[in-house]
Amino acid sequence: MACSNLESMSSPHETVSAPIFSPTTKRRTGRITRRQAAALAGASPHRLDLPGAYAGGSGELDLHRWTKGEREVVLDIGFGSAQPVLELARLHPEQVVVAIDVHTPGVGDLLASIDELGMDNVCVAQADVREVLALLPMASITGVRTFYPDPWPKSRHVRRRLVATAFANELADKVRVGGWWHLATDWLPYADYMRAQIDASSRWQGGPIDRPAWRPVTRYERNAQVAERGSTDLWFVRSGP
Ligand SMILES: C[S@@+](CC[C@H](N)C(=O)[O-])C[C@H]1O[C@@H](n2cnc3c(N)ncnc32)[C@H](O)[C@@H]1O
Repeated sequence: MACSNLESMSSPHETVSAPIFSPTTKRRTGRITRRQAAALAGASPHRLDLPGAYAGGSGELDLHRWTKGEREVVLDIGFGSAQPVLELARLHPEQVVVAIDVHTPGVGDLLASIDELGMDNVCVAQADVREVLALLPMASITGVRTFYPDPWPKSRHVRRRLVATAFANELADKVRVGGWWHLATDWLPYADYMRAQIDASSRWQGGPIDRPAWRPVTRYERNAQVAERGSTDLWFVRSGP
């Protein structure tokens, strides 16, 4: 994975004007267990199947199917593995988590776990987050989690970074004013980079926070802990307009 490759590091403040759609965000396969394969092959009601998810021709995802007009919607972008998503969903029954990733085994694992645990406030999209964003109604999201996004440390790969000003603006369209965006990374230059990129959008305000005790340790954070790398948490609030 890109995360483990910290050679030829780029400057934290290196910016790009127009991030390109990364070829690496195509569906990522990998070794799949029988349990994951069965979940992927089944017709789970918790799967956000993008082409079939349009509401009555409006061109928008039908979030009401999950929220029933009562629950808030939170995006978990690049969730990677099931456990942290499930832990936070259990902690917040008032939220519906839309968990998004391109990684097939992770998607299969989460779908299987949701069914096994009978959870009703998590749905899963195997897609590039930009595909999902394009289908979300304006100001429909209350919160966003982006834990340990791929830092793409090599200079020539900087354009592949997900967290960039253009992305922050795209996300801002879909998050209501007062909503939040929680990010974490184990690479300080990327924390600085993400902060600078989000600050450059006039629609978010925030910065580093202490690591909240309630944030579950994700797989990538565990790897970082083993390698004795600390983490930085960032918290931004959607400010108007
Ligand atoms: C470094 S891993 C972090 C996983 C997890 N959040 C953690 O902390 O263990 C980054 C994850 O983001 C996913 N990802 C990268 N780009 C993405 C995109 N454009 N849309 C959706 N998922 C993406 C990858 O497949 C991968 O699972």
